[in-house]
Amino acid sequence: MSIAKYFDDMSYGLSPESDTEARAWLARHDHSFGHFIAGSFTTPDHSFQTFEPATGKPLAHLARGTAAEVDAAVTAARKAQSPWAKLTGHARARHLYALARMIQRHARLIAVVEAIDNGKPIRETRDIDVPLAARHFTHHAGWAQLQATAFPDHAPLGVVGQIIPWNFPFLMLAWKLAPALALGNTVVLKPAEYTSLTALLFAELAQAAGLPAGVINIVTGEGDTGALLVDHPGIDKIAFTGSTEVGRLIRQRIAGTGKSLTLELGGKSPFIVFDDADLDGAVEGVVDAIWFNQGQVCCAGSRLLLQEGIAEDFIRRLKRRMDNLRVGSPLDKSIDMGAIVAPVQLDRIRALVAQGVAEGATLYQAAMDLPTNGCFYPPTLLTGVQPAHIVAQEEIFGPVAVTITFRTPDESVQLANHSRYGLSASIWSESISLALQVAAKVEAGVVWVNATNLFDAAVGFGGRKESGFGREGGREGAYEYLKPKAMLGRKLRPAQPPITARSASIADFVAPTIDRTAKLFIAGKQARPDGNYSRPVLTPRGALIAEVGEGNRKDIRNAVSAARKAEAWANATAHNRAQVLYYIAENLSARATEFASRISAMTGQGAAKADAEVAASIERLFSYAAWADKYEGSVHAPPLRGVALAMHEPIGVVGVICPPEAPLLGLISLTAPLIAMGNRVVAVPSAPHPLSATDFYGVLETSDMPDGVLNIVTGDPQPLAEALATHADVDALWAFGSEALSESAERLSASNLKRTFVDHGRLTDWHHPSAEGADWLRHATEVKNIWIPYGV
Ligand code: NAI
Ligand code: MG
Repeated sequence: MSIAKYFDDMSYGLSPESDTEARAWLARHDHSFGHFIAGSFTTPDHSFQTFEPATGKPLAHLARGTAAEVDAAVTAARKAQSPWAKLTGHARARHLYALARMIQRHARLIAVVEAIDNGKPIRETRDIDVPLAARHFTHHAGWAQLQATAFPDHAPLGVVGQIIPWNFPFLMLAWKLAPALALGNTVVLKPAEYTSLTALLFAELAQAAGLPAGVINIVTGEGDTGALLVDHPGIDKIAFTGSTEVGRLIRQRIAGTGKSLTLELGGKSPFIVFDDADLDGAVEGVVDAIWFNQGQVCCAGSRLLLQEGIAEDFIRRLKRRMDNLRVGSPLDKSIDMGAIVAPVQLDRIRALVAQGVAEGATLYQAAMDLPTNGCFYPPTLLTGVQPAHIVAQEEIFGPVAVTITFRTPDESVQLANHSRYGLSASIWSESISLALQVAAKVEAGVVWVNATNLFDAAVGFGGRKESGFGREGGREGAYEYLKPKAMLGRKLRPAQPPITARSASIADFVAPTIDRTAKLFIAGKQARPDGNYSRPVLTPRGALIAEVGEGNRKDIRNAVSAARKAEAWANATAHNRAQVLYYIAENLSARATEFASRISAMTGQGAAKADAEVAASIERLFSYAAWADKYEGSVHAPPLRGVALAMHEPIGVVGVICPPEAPLLGLISLTAPLIAMGNRVVAVPSAPHPLSATDFYGVLETSDMPDGVLNIVTGDPQPLAEALATHADVDALWAFGSEALSESAERLSASNLKRTFVDHGRLTDWHHPSAEGADWLRHATEVKNIWIPYGV
């Protein structure tokens, strides 16, 4: 063969990374692994086989975690937790730093094992997964060091169960372990069944680094082992990354148990290219968005939204680039894409692409010879896709991008948000004002401007809508492994006697102060309840003071639609929102005596206590008016070109079930932080004492609060909470009341994976300073991290 040929086609030769050490490591273990529990490895017995994605050959035998083994791991973690938390922050920081150093020292071995086990290119494991994992431990060593000063009012959660997927096995382990350990928690982690090897290798390294026994426990197995961990009563929190389907299941299973939960689920993220974008730059962006990690990326830019004027040109350039991509052995240093993780995933990709073609999309696949063994799939583009097509809605989780065109920036936002997911978005335009205007409007937890798939330990990552809730990384992620100390040791709320609804006003009023039946408050107007039933409001001695409307599901629907229409509140300036809250406080202040005597009448409390509740309510309104323009986001400085703006955004429409006690202060304490942050609220007031809320209509009517920002539906909290929890257009639900209420709020909210904030039947001291402030505002906001180019 002539040498000139190579000069002509300029093709790469093979450039294999040696796998000698990795294979030797496997051989040393006889290709068979137990769990890592309480600082040592168990002898595997219930084992299953894993395979090498690139060759299809058997790779290792792993233990399938049984109930007894999961229990042993949780017990070990529990035993280790308090001593671990009691170490000084500095001591914990040194442990995390030692883990980071261990990763760096064994970086090559980890990178090769990961490439073999997962099928992803060595170039990516070597340059991205492993260094970033080390970075997570170093960054979080810092949070351990600073814990006492940075989080003085927070305590660790305890024992955390972490379940991770196979697409970034080692990196996900680092994302999960580093913050949990840094802040004084101990962990039982279950890696994905296809890709557990680097977790086991890490356990070995942790053992060698002298991490105390039980701080990290690794239990391998499939979904049923994960379920055992989820169900274990000794767990304080579950942190899950994986499919939306399993995330939803976990939400339902742990409802009402008091376990915390963060879910990082799927996505169908938009990649928006405007006609003034640097098109070649954007084409490279697509390569990183959808062909990075074979497209098995939760935040993959899988929906290419192209402005009409450049769509054709862009697709032409993209196809040309696709033809230059190389797919091959993960250990070949010069390939762009390796193998798909498992045959079942390959089948899923094939089936979805076939569906796309059947629905009318045009298929383009780079012409290339794929390796004949193993799970390979070529870079794929589906053009001419309609927004409603399955391939535009479903996560394909493979190297498949779809294109959709748009005309105007507004239309691009509409298309971007036309998804049940809300994980990430990538925006390409040379106009900074256009890009940032769109960044503000896309429903996503992470936005990249003229970039894509950038990650860092200092920058929170996580989604909205059915992409889950919670953030990982940065200060915002640290809070997911902490709880306010004020929440410790709260007492169970005494059971409430039932109140029965009845048909409207029968003449059995016995109390001297008989009122009309109070209506509901929807869209700024008093509205009769749909069902025409009312419920009695009684004094503590059982005398009837008044009746209020018995709201039902239809009333909730009306209130939610009013709240949705009040969208403009989200874009009102923080200054403006503050002004409205001050004005409400002022109007309440003018009627303080009337509100106090009403509280006395309903609750039987003496005048002094009732006065104090009104005074505290006015002060709380002032407080949240003050916070409105002070609970600001931050700017993260990752070790990459650019910065990330961590913006605090409203969640959207939030349902609030107020506690039975503190009829006025409870209502204000829960709705004011939400309103201050730009949310719209549908509130269900105290069931036994709803008149503080119905009297409040008058205050709202004389203030400048836009219609629909705060809607109030009186009635039985349980069915109203259920209506809110199952409503697809409600973004979050706060439920304060009985344990049963918390359970159903969490379980039913799984329908659209709305965020929840519940008290599990525990009493809050509404007069205490801890009943307001940043902990509440955190529940009232979403953090959106917008990565923008900045500096050199
Ligand atoms: P999966 O959600 O079933 O697996 C993720 C992890 O959850 C694994 O460790 C698994 O063992 C565990 N698991 C499974 N069932 C469980 C249960 N009932 N209780 C507790 N843990 C359980 O995802 P799978 O089946 O591997 O992939 C299916 C699809 O999910 C993919 O095609 C992709 O669309 C999506 N996915 C999304 C990921 C993401 O990062 N957002 C990661 C992996 C998958
Ligand atoms: Mg599954």
